[in-house]
Parts: sequence; C-alpha cells; structure tokens
Amino acid sequence: MGETFYITTPIYYVNDVPHIGHAYTTVAADVAARYHRLKGEDTYFLTGTDEHGGKVAATAAEKGMEPQAWTDQISQRFREVWPRLDISNDDFIRTTEERHIKPVQAFLQHLYDKGEIYEGEYEGPYCQSCEAFYKESELVDGGCPVHKRPVERLKERNYFFRLSAHAGWLLNEYYAQNPCPVQPDSRLNECVSFIKSGLQDVSISRPSLEWGIPLPWNPEHVIYVWIEALQNYITALGYPDGDKFKRYWPAVHLVGKEIVRFHAVIWPAMLHAAGVEPPKMIFGHGWLLVGGEKMSKTNLTGIHPFELVDAFGVDAYRYYFLREVAFGQDGNFSWESMEARYTSELANGIGNLASRVVAMIGAYFDAAVPAPSAPETDQDATLREVCEASVRDYTTAMDALAFHQALEAVDKIVRRANGYIVETAPWVIAKDPTQRDRLARVLFSSAETLRILAVLLSPFMPGACERLWGMLGSSSPLSHQVLPAAGEWGGLRPGSATHKGESLFPRLEQK
Ligand code: ME8
Ligand code: MG
Repeated sequence: MGETFYITTPIYYVNDVPHIGHAYTTVAADVAARYHRLKGEDTYFLTGTDEHGGKVAATAAEKGMEPQAWTDQISQRFREVWPRLDISNDDFIRTTEERHIKPVQAFLQHLYDKGEIYEGEYEGPYCQSCEAFYKESELVDGGCPVHKRPVERLKERNYFFRLSAHAGWLLNEYYAQNPCPVQPDSRLNECVSFIKSGLQDVSISRPSLEWGIPLPWNPEHVIYVWIEALQNYITALGYPDGDKFKRYWPAVHLVGKEIVRFHAVIWPAMLHAAGVEPPKMIFGHGWLLVGGEKMSKTNLTGIHPFELVDAFGVDAYRYYFLREVAFGQDGNFSWESMEARYTSELANGIGNLASRVVAMIGAYFDAAVPAPSAPETDQDATLREVCEASVRDYTTAMDALAFHQALEAVDKIVRRANGYIVETAPWVIAKDPTQRDRLARVLFSSAETLRILAVLLSPFMPGACERLWGMLGSSSPLSHQVLPAAGEWGGLRPGSATHKGESLFPRLEQK
C-alpha cells in the first residue's frame, strides 16, 4: 500500500453560519488534500460541525428552536457552502450523529476504567464563546483572552481527566520528535510554556447542561463539548475497528491558533492515555483580521464567503487568502488588496500569459502545439531553469504547508514567462519565414510553462486550471497527472490542439 495522508479542519460550531474565517482553514486543508492526491497519495479529507455545548444550546434558545432542529439547519449551511468553494472533502461529520456518540462514550468509558478519569470539583472562569475553562492568570482585564468579553464563574462537581500525569510524555516524547508535530514553532512554544506553567487536570463533564452526550457511567452529566468534539477525528473513521481508522489515522490537524491548546496538549494526551497513536501534526495558523481585530461572529465582523466569490470567482477566492497571508501568521483582509492581487497576478499575470500564448499558437501554427525543433537558446534555458527551480521550491513549501511560499514560487514562473514573451517577441519572429523553427521553440517553451503552471496551481485553483488544461489540448486529463513526473520540463505533446477558450480571469471592470 502507498503513502496515506489524512487531513482535517476543526469542526465548526453551529452557533452561526459560515464566514471567511472558517473558509480560510477549509480551503487550506483542501489545497493540502488536493496536493497530496496530486502526489498520488491515498488521501482522506474530513470536515464537519460541532453541535453540542452551552453556546449552541443558548443560540438555539434565542432563536426559539429546539437545539437539534437548529443544528440541523445550520450544519446544512456549512455543508452547502463547501461545494461552491470547490472543497473536496471525503466526509462531513456531525457530532449529533450516532456514529460519533457511541464511540465517544466507549472511548471515555475506556479512560474511566483505566483510572485516567476521577470525580472532583471545578471552580473558576469559563468562556462560553470559547467553551473553555481558563486560569485566573490567563484573563485579560478580567475577560476572556480571545473574545475580550466577561467570563462566567463556575463552581460545579464534575469529572476530570488526569492531564497533568501526561506532561512529561508531551514535553519529552511527543514534542521531542523530529520533525515536531506541533507547528509552527511559535505554537509549540506556547504549548511548552502552558505546560511548564503547571499543567492542571481538565474537566471532562458538565452537570449543569443537557445539550450533549451523556457520560456513560453517570448520565446526570453530559461530556464537556471539547472532549467529545476532538474525537470526531477518529469517530469519523470508524474508531476503534473501522478500516478507515486503520488505514488513515494519524491525522494532520489544521486549526486556528486559538484552539491549538486543545489539539496539541489535551487531545494527544487523551489518545496517549487510551493507547491510541497521537496526531501526526497539529498546524496552528493565524487569524484573518478585519480592521486589526479577529474577524468573527462574536465581533460582528463576519463576512460570508459568497460575498467575495460572487465578485472575484471561486478560483481567485481560494488563491487570494493563501497568497496574501503567510500561513501561520495573522493577516488583514481587505477588498482593495484582493482587487489588486486579482488584477496584477491573475488577470494580468497568468490569465494574460495563457491567452497570449494560445492566441499565437492559433495564429501561427493553426492551433497545434509546435515541436521544439530549434536548439535551446540562453533565453529558453533560463525559462526552463526558472520552472525547474520553482517546482522544487513549490514542492518543499507545499510539503511544509507553506502555501504562500509555494505561490511565490509559482509567481516567479509567471513573471519570467511574461518577460520571456516580451523579450523573444514571437510576433516579430513570425514575420520572418526563415525563423519558423525559432518561433516554434519559443511557443513550445511558453506553452510548456503553462502546462507546468496548470499542474502546480491545480490544488489552489482547480476550476481555472482545468480550463487552462483544456486550452492546451492535452490528451491526458489534468486529474491523471502525478507529481513529480508531471512537474518535469517537456511533458507537453507537440501536435496537441489548443483552444482559445474564455478568459481565465476576466478583468474586474468587465464583470
Ligand atoms: O473552535 N481567522 O469552532 P469555531 C482564521 N468547534 N481562522 C478562523 C477565523 C479567523 N478570523 N475565525 C474562525 C471551534 N476561524 C470548535 C472546534 S475542533 C474539534 C472544535 C477558523 O466555529 C479557524 O480554523 O469557533 C478556527 O480555529 C475555527 O474556525 C474556529 O471555529
Ligand atoms: Mg470560535
């Protein structure tokens, strides 16, 4: 059996409809999934919705609805948005499904039987927007450090997981692996200092709530929402006996930085305690900011993805966020910067390159890719070498989830190719009948560059790259291309019938 790759997004709370923050993680996970499929790996991609807990119950009550009816409605909103963003998830898990509830209860019973869970009393702050227990020392001006809003004071009997007992394993074994499973370094450092500041046992049940999964040994309590939500990553695969679980686990978890602690401290420790392999990687990316603040429903700054998709198209949407923001860091969203990148890199960049090259092959070679019969000049060699170097940089970056660097490498190819066309001026060569072979070489090299661009960009912009592939008239479909072979120079077949096609990225004023 070949390599497998399992990637997940957080499961999103159904307290409100999707916004571009949720889409940010989901698009990134989709790009990673498509890239690993492009490498020929057996890939599995999971997303879903997190449907229990006080926050969801409170939202349903505000709307005057039963929690189940409310979650059915909002989960559907998430499920509908993803196809329109070309998200290729293999499954969509909901935590109110039986296939989640039963194995969650079995998992906790197992930890309880092993003595990893005990009864105690919790007293301290709780933020319902985070669904998180905080230490007094973590509060900012007395409020939640994420939402900057007042916290609740809880005092309740509940059950605890012996998280503190696993501090040594986390620090000295799990995090000590090479490469470290917690990425990027800044997130690892946060986890390490959190643990070193004194890791406390964590509450796993809530006696005061009804909307949740009952504890198997004491149904007066429901399981604390985070403790069951994390398990979606294994219940969706049919843990403990399912074939998919055996085949795909452990996962790469993509999450926003505010929930790294749950994924990189609590979750691996729970798995370790249960005797299950911990995650392969937890990557905590940064926040999309609007006007310098985390964009969120709570802050009333949520933007629905369709507002942007309608204006820029789905491919540009997927491209923009991963190009604009270094994956791992925070980044500001603005309409102006999206417009600027669209115009310079997509419309005037790759879009213009594709239409010029295909138009010239149409005019000078009857719409059939010419054979590169003339010898390679320095100009041709430079273009080829830029492609070869950029493919290497792209691969290194993609393997490290450094999407912005991968797109930087791609942009280098586009800029060199546009320069190459200006410098070689095929429309001038075309006037000299003795230079037919030279013209053929220039247009072959240009079209071959487009072929490589279509392959490299296909995880980011699957629709536009299909159209570009169609323009080049390749006989083998884009979906059959496999890296590294598909990224090697010289794959385009002379004689392929080119098609002018629609503009890949129409100018914005035309829309
Ligand atoms: O935390 N910038 O769900 P959630 C970047 N149910 N990413 C953002 C973002 C922003 N402004 N806003 C949201 C939960 N996200 C839990 C997860 S997992 C077992 C349970 C993305 O609906 C980012 O991935 O609050 C963040 O971590 C996630 O949405 C939070 O979604
Ligand atoms: Mg949140």
